Amino acid sequence: MMNREKTTRDPILLTPGPLTTSRRTKEAMLRDWGSWGVEFNRITDRIRTSLLQVAHDAGTHECVPLQGSGTFAVEAAIGTVVPKAGHVLVPINGAYCQRIAKICKYLDRRLSTIDYAERAQVRAEDIDARLAEDPSITHVALVHCETGAGILNPLEDVARVVAKHGKGLIVDAMSSFGAIDIDLRKFSVDAVVGASGKCLEGVPGMGFILIRRAVLEICEGNSHSLAMDLYDQWRYMEKTTQWRFTPPTHVVAALDEAIRQFEEEGGQPARGARYARNCEQLITGMQALGFQSFLPRALQAPIIVTFHAPADPTYEFKRFYDEVKQRGYILYPGKLTQVETFRIGCMGQIGGDPDGPSGMIGAVAAIADTVKSMGIKRIAAVT
Ligand SMILES: Cc1ncc(COP(=O)(O)O)c(C=O)c1O
Repeated sequence: MMNREKTTRDPILLTPGPLTTSRRTKEAMLRDWGSWGVEFNRITDRIRTSLLQVAHDAGTHECVPLQGSGTFAVEAAIGTVVPKAGHVLVPINGAYCQRIAKICKYLDRRLSTIDYAERAQVRAEDIDARLAEDPSITHVALVHCETGAGILNPLEDVARVVAKHGKGLIVDAMSSFGAIDIDLRKFSVDAVVGASGKCLEGVPGMGFILIRRAVLEICEGNSHSLAMDLYDQWRYMEKTTQWRFTPPTHVVAALDEAIRQFEEEGGQPARGARYARNCEQLITGMQALGFQSFLPRALQAPIIVTFHAPADPTYEFKRFYDEVKQRGYILYPGKLTQVETFRIGCMGQIGGDPDGPSGMIGAVAAIADTVKSMGIKRIAAVT
């Protein structure tokens, strides 16, 4: 189905958060909540329980919510879980791994890295070797889905190696939580970090950290920051049932409603399957137009796909973006350092009706139409 007409609906966000949310989720924000109210605190409690269930918690972890975007939650996790004298190993294969390394520097935590190309997966064997070589490393911080290129890192293999060496593992699961299975019963992880406005399809504004209780209990005094201290946030919440500082009430209510729909859909297996379908339709459709995806299929997470920019001299991302937007879809710029790319997200309230304008087939049609209107002839990239 072609989308030649300018659309009057809100464009569909094909971005890795904020993303397109359902009407029910948006409507959940129409009420003002008092942060002291029992009803609101019940919502907080329900969310904390549900988030632990998404990760199959068997009573080992606590869910600590935190105000702010995803990076706030990652920074809070590093600052709270890693003692001041700790030493963090960060395997780096993209922009969000680099951000963790930057956080470690800001927080004055000792840092080591293993550097990979942006199209290579992190290898558990390399982490094994580095941990054997350097016993001063106390923690490994892994990005599960590196949203920079859209690559999936081997969480279970890494977790096994980290546990073998008796070290702590912190996982940035921002763009995977809810869509890709994370099973806390299967492997040992100190902290898993997620956020409201990603695969759970809430709105942005809060993060959450699932922390092993035995770890959290000994984290007092680690944090560099009062607002980011997850130990303090947890203790306060446990004591009072309330958030320590002003909660993002509308975001919390929207996440509660989004989680309800997540469960109605069939939880992580169904959410992951819908995104995988979106991803498949997207790649197949784009390849038929001549676009090349950056990653080999085996490494591609069903979350966001990076495409090479067309080689044609008439291509210019800003205009491409504007034209596709006029046809009802918002794309995302590339985040790679070496090659010119753009990204298309597979996540959000899209793909329930694959043939409708909101599905990937509609998005590919909008791109095909844009290619024609811009006069782009040579789509294959020079790689
Ligand atoms: C893997 C990963 N980590 C961290 C972040 C940072 O989140 P935010 O931009 O909400 O601070 C993102 C955002 O997309 C992400 O994909």
